Amino acid sequence: MLMPGSQTDTTTGGRGPSRNGVSSEQRGKWLEKAASQFEPDPQYLIPLLQYVQREAGYLPAEAMQAVARHLRMPESKVYGVASFYAQFYFTPRGRNVITVCRGTACHVRGSARLVAELEESLEVKSGGTTADLEFTVEEVSCVGACALAPVVLINGRVHRQQTRSSLKRLLRDVPSATPDAKATKAKPRAKAKHINGGTDR
Ligand code: FES
Repeated sequence: MLMPGSQTDTTTGGRGPSRNGVSSEQRGKWLEKAASQFEPDPQYLIPLLQYVQREAGYLPAEAMQAVARHLRMPESKVYGVASFYAQFYFTPRGRNVITVCRGTACHVRGSARLVAELEESLEVKSGGTTADLEFTVEEVSCVGACALAPVVLINGRVHRQQTRSSLKRLLRDVPSATPDAKATKAKPRAKAKHINGGTDR
């Protein structure tokens, strides 16, 4: 059985909501539910990991331990399988995922500037998630839309031929769950200069 009582939330000392907004009590409930849905059989490892990630938004360390116990597998094996698949994450993800294509076509058309814009506007390093868990910024190699370069995906939706300015506008239109995130997005870049109305490419 999964053991919800052992799900110590390391970000809050086991009390109250964790960094991803899920309290240890909530985790206990969905882990109990998972235990009732999945037999303690290693063949259910992937579906169980998918279930955990759907509920928590990522794979917390304590949930990985619980999964290993439930399926009676070594924890190292559970990690080994989870880390093989790109669909699984071990750190919290933002509610909005912004993906900048860094393939060759996008690179020569300025994708590095788009990454810089996101890092400045959202105050997060590429590959990271904002403190309010509103945005994750990531880079990938070619997404197969080179004719539209440079390309940015917001929650999986492709946005073509982006510039710093157009990307900023897109950011403003992303629905925010928290007022703080809106404030961050609206914050002007201190060094932004537009001379003679030119583009900022
Ligand atoms: S290089 Fe960006 S879509 Fe191909």
